[in-house]
Amino acid sequence: MNIVVVGTQWGDEGKGRVIDFLSREVDAIVRFQGGSNAGHTVVVDGEIFVFHLVPSGILHPGKSCIIGNGVVVDPGELLAELESLRARNIDIKGLRLSSSAHIVMPYHKEIEKIEEKQRGKKKIGTTKKGVGPAYTDKIARRGIRVGDLLNEKVLAEKLDVNFVLLANYYRLNLCKKDILSRYLEYGDKLREYITDTSILVNQLIKKNKEILFEGAQGTLLDIDHGTYPFVTSSCTSAGGVCIGVGIGPTRIDKVLGVAKVYTTRVGEGPFPTEIEGREGEILKERGKEYGATTGRPRRCGWFDGVILRYADRINGLDELVLTKLDVLDKLDRIKICTAYKYKDKAIEDFPFQVVSLRECEPIYEEMEGWEEDTSQVSRYEDLPEKAQAYLRRIEEIGELPIGYLSLSPERAGLIKCKE
Ligand code: IMO
Ligand code: MG
Repeated sequence: MNIVVVGTQWGDEGKGRVIDFLSREVDAIVRFQGGSNAGHTVVVDGEIFVFHLVPSGILHPGKSCIIGNGVVVDPGELLAELESLRARNIDIKGLRLSSSAHIVMPYHKEIEKIEEKQRGKKKIGTTKKGVGPAYTDKIARRGIRVGDLLNEKVLAEKLDVNFVLLANYYRLNLCKKDILSRYLEYGDKLREYITDTSILVNQLIKKNKEILFEGAQGTLLDIDHGTYPFVTSSCTSAGGVCIGVGIGPTRIDKVLGVAKVYTTRVGEGPFPTEIEGREGEILKERGKEYGATTGRPRRCGWFDGVILRYADRINGLDELVLTKLDVLDKLDRIKICTAYKYKDKAIEDFPFQVVSLRECEPIYEEMEGWEEDTSQVSRYEDLPEKAQAYLRRIEEIGELPIGYLSLSPERAGLIKCKE
């Protein structure tokens, strides 16, 4: 079975821990988009691992961990991540890197900083990892790809073009010669992992191996279907898998949507169910809602059923994976948004335009909190009745079954709900 795991909100849904859990049963884990803007956290026996580029299945020895062509790779960051894994005795032999993935260059990070600064109050609130400008170059057909790091002549020629078009244009104080030698060195260090990953993944599929496709960010950060322009620059939804890996849609068997039982967002942009005040603070502190990549505090809000239905529409979800239920343990009342009020009318479909979304007011249902510790529960049936009622309501609103539920960051905290 080949399964896609995508975020259904604005990222940070807990995809890393879900991938780590499901990795036990598969042969390969494949990233298909995004870059080191992602921060996927896995906790094993109290030890914390945060993955930015390396697939979150790497902690399971003997698996292929593949970075597909749709990812943008900062080779310095990738090598640092690999080094820190090696230092922690993690076997990284299974890593493979697509020769056609695009490279994040030093000027990308500089350009992003300049653009964000110049936008002033209209900034996007990016992670400043150079991801947006790297994807810009890909579309503008001047991008540098992983395979280019293995060919000095090609890399030098591409750098010449990009210095004229970008570095000089933005008056960046960067040395072309230094960049050339540094990136050739990166290529040398990564050489053993670089391959045509589309061939590799298709071969695995032919051999009936099982594959997990690991989404980064979330549906509402998708370049096409997210809250544009407050989005990331890649296709974060399930459709992005085929393009970002080089497989056909018929090769995908199942799509799992990961959602927190409340909502968070980092960076700017509209957020209808955002809570200002005490309950938002409780969620932030109990949920440790600080970015795994930038450390920024995340904005917190109630669960949004309009967004869930939208994520189902865009991704064709089969099942839900709900995370962080224990974070709600201390609340005496919990709200769920079931529709929006827009121009005095109740609407159930997520509005396409950010200007309309800003005018939407959530319509809430209120439920009683369970006010009991759920972090040690290991079977769905043992959850407090009020917690089960809350989860059932989410299933009803989304018309989707909950496949797995996460009750604590540890591996054992993820439980299967339906056999
Ligand atoms: P994971 O995979 C949450 C957000 C940034 C910003 C917007 C654009 O851990 O869920 P970018 O640097 O991508 O150009 O920033 O997207 N963003 C994320 N938010 N989780 C992420 O990844 C994110 N990756 C990017 O905060 O609002
Ligand atoms: Mg994150």
